[in-house]
Amino acid sequence: MESTIYLDYAATSPMYPEVIEVMSEAMQTTFGNASSIHQFGRKSRGYLDEARAIFARSIHAKSNEIIITSGGSESDNTAILKTAEKYESLGKHIITTNIEHEAVLKPMKYLESKGFDVTYLPADKDGFVSAEQVKAALRNDTILVSIMSGNNEVGSIMPIAEIGSILKNSNPAVVFHTDAVQSYGSQDIDVDEMNIDLLSVSAHKIGGPKGIGFLYCRENIKLPSLILGGEQETKRRAGTENIPAIIGFQKAVELMMKDKKQRNAYYRKLKEKLVNNLKQAGVDLEINGSYDSSLPHIVSLHLKGIDAERLLIHLDLAGIAVSTGSACTAGNVDPSHVLSAMFGVDHPAISETVRISLGLGTTEEDIENVVIELSNIIKRLK
Ligand SMILES: Cc1ncc(COP(=O)(O)O)c(C=O)c1O
Repeated sequence: MESTIYLDYAATSPMYPEVIEVMSEAMQTTFGNASSIHQFGRKSRGYLDEARAIFARSIHAKSNEIIITSGGSESDNTAILKTAEKYESLGKHIITTNIEHEAVLKPMKYLESKGFDVTYLPADKDGFVSAEQVKAALRNDTILVSIMSGNNEVGSIMPIAEIGSILKNSNPAVVFHTDAVQSYGSQDIDVDEMNIDLLSVSAHKIGGPKGIGFLYCRENIKLPSLILGGEQETKRRAGTENIPAIIGFQKAVELMMKDKKQRNAYYRKLKEKLVNNLKQAGVDLEINGSYDSSLPHIVSLHLKGIDAERLLIHLDLAGIAVSTGSACTAGNVDPSHVLSAMFGVDHPAISETVRISLGLGTTEEDIENVVIELSNIIKRLK
């Protein structure tokens, strides 16, 4: 049976109708290569420049600081691998956390294999690392700090501004990267106020198309390109630009900027309803992470005594799509490294957790139906 209630927006979101509309139009009318000097190329270039300006405005950056990429993974890989390459002569120490997305952790592992020394700050039981932890880990040879803005499994929001102000005053200077893939849609970001040097964003988490995103790269940090080839993105990312996807991404960003506050309030209301109604239905649960300081669209629930993999299958049969953890590592049955970091590898939450994530398409009725199905299935499984 087709899923009828989709609650896995942290994995990916459907495109907004407005996004599909502008992309369909662009696919029919805007095919020119943005590097071509004829009118077809100039038309594409115009759209590209306009989108870049909107992306920049969304984080209080300058247009020339936006590198358009294929999404969060490429942005993270570029930020980490290319900062390491560029500043290697100044030091080989990097600081990150043990609950980052694999798009950060895998490049870190790669750099370790090349002789870099990576400190993985341990997240606490609520999925946070503190600015003090970052400060204590800094060394004379630290060249990069990469800490996610919001966690994709439990939604914890990191103290990015505090970390930024510590790093701003650090001597020698350290590059500060944040993976904002999950937080971009709901949190206000000002790269200058927060002293962020590099920031990764992905369109498909905010109602835009897949395979497109950007890396904010502060003007004075000129990173070598990860993808070698043409001179697109002022030589910072080779490859012919996907103009329809960029136009769709721009539309998703504009919609996000227009009503971020209302959306956040809506998600918080739905989340509260979900948790309260589940509790009222007698479901024995604990929220993983901090309920109050978490991204509004994510809730991670430890359903005590319930095997999450089995539950997921039953929910799927009932037409409800949720996730047991990070969907970007789906198909991989390894226990969640995020929950393991928070609770220890033997904690029951690791095999008894579902992540429910909300989007604009989620209704109060969806939440009511999910509570009914979930509590019935749990009764059966018990
Ligand atoms: C925190 C985080 N970073 C990076 C990514 C990867 O982004 P993309 O799918 O655009 O490559 C994801 C995707 O789930 C994510 O949640």
